[in-house]
Amino acid sequence: MLRRLHHEQPDAFAYTPANLDWARAQITKYPEGRQASAVISLLWRAQEQEGWLSRPAIEYVADMLGMAHIRALEVATFYFMFQLQPVGSVAHIQVCGTTSCMICGAEDLIGICRERIAPEPHMLSADGKFSWEEVECLGACTNAPMAQIGKDYYEDLSAARFGEILDELAAGKVPVPGPQNGRYAAEAKGGLTCLTEFESGRTQYNASVARAVELGDTIKRIDGTEVPILTPWLKQPETPGRGVRADARVQDNSRGRPADRTGATKPEAPASSRGQPISKAEPKIGDEGASEESQPETLSAPRGGKPDDLKLLKGVGPKLEEMLNDLGFYHYDQIAAWTPAQIAWVDSRLTFKGRIERDGWVEQAASLAAGEETEFSRRAKDDGIYD
Ligand code: FES
Repeated sequence: MLRRLHHEQPDAFAYTPANLDWARAQITKYPEGRQASAVISLLWRAQEQEGWLSRPAIEYVADMLGMAHIRALEVATFYFMFQLQPVGSVAHIQVCGTTSCMICGAEDLIGICRERIAPEPHMLSADGKFSWEEVECLGACTNAPMAQIGKDYYEDLSAARFGEILDELAAGKVPVPGPQNGRYAAEAKGGLTCLTEFESGRTQYNASVARAVELGDTIKRIDGTEVPILTPWLKQPETPGRGVRADARVQDNSRGRPADRTGATKPEAPASSRGQPISKAEPKIGDEGASEESQPETLSAPRGGKPDDLKLLKGVGPKLEEMLNDLGFYHYDQIAAWTPAQIAWVDSRLTFKGRIERDGWVEQAASLAAGEETEFSRRAKDDGIYD
């Protein structure tokens, strides 16, 4: 199937502040230099927010990860789970058309979609509320025929029940997902034939349905405020909706220009007059964190043309060293002097949020600036890692 970007595209995309926090936290899961590994989860979040992936959204994610735009486009166009055209404002219906579902009545469900939503898949209904597509096996074959609606499965469907579900969705209701024929889960249609002693202890719904009912986000667009964004590897939970302006916080690493044969892109250095301290940045409009941040003094070039080897700081590799240099930090004493507010300023400009404090850069830098060794710098030199 040919998958192309939609002919009509919005002018721009930005994560909601909470989704941006979530995305930045996801990036910290990956080792330095491997941030592109977060591309699918970030694209998926963009789709959860908007319903589909526009070109600006794909490029936004690519920029955030320092990838060439084409690399993210390759991912988005390869995987069918990414919707490349607008979907229904209420729900996008994915009807399974593979063997089990087909012999159990999937064609009837598809017929209803054609009749009630749109004659062809990926078309919007006349009122813009629904869209549909036929998909391959969704792994619920025992409960065929079935359809995924939004985030949940509706199983054991009949044409009549499927029509009722569409009616309920159109009326603003969200039908309870799961088996629609009275089955509890995937037991035999005639009832349990074994483990019958557990039947009396059943909860109202099976675990999947109970979770879906609890979350209540079957067809909801995700703006990041739904559940706490836990990032235990950053020592503290990210607080959703901190008022961070999305476009101000995204580090535009690539602007779509491949820097080498791998297609990876190179961060752009801040504009400056070489050899002179760079003036302090203007506070960012809408960035609540600005009051807690303070820009440290930066340099436009290393003193005497000789930068310190920042890679001798545990947690700083070639990529981070390059980013620090681009921000105007070349020397241990610069880093050793960072105050908590200045750490926050630098932290908000790195893709690897939380690493400064987690790895103790300031303390390490103070030792190195004083001509001492740290355990890591000694080991790095002994192992010849950076020779
Ligand atoms: S064949 Fe439809 S879920 Fe597997």
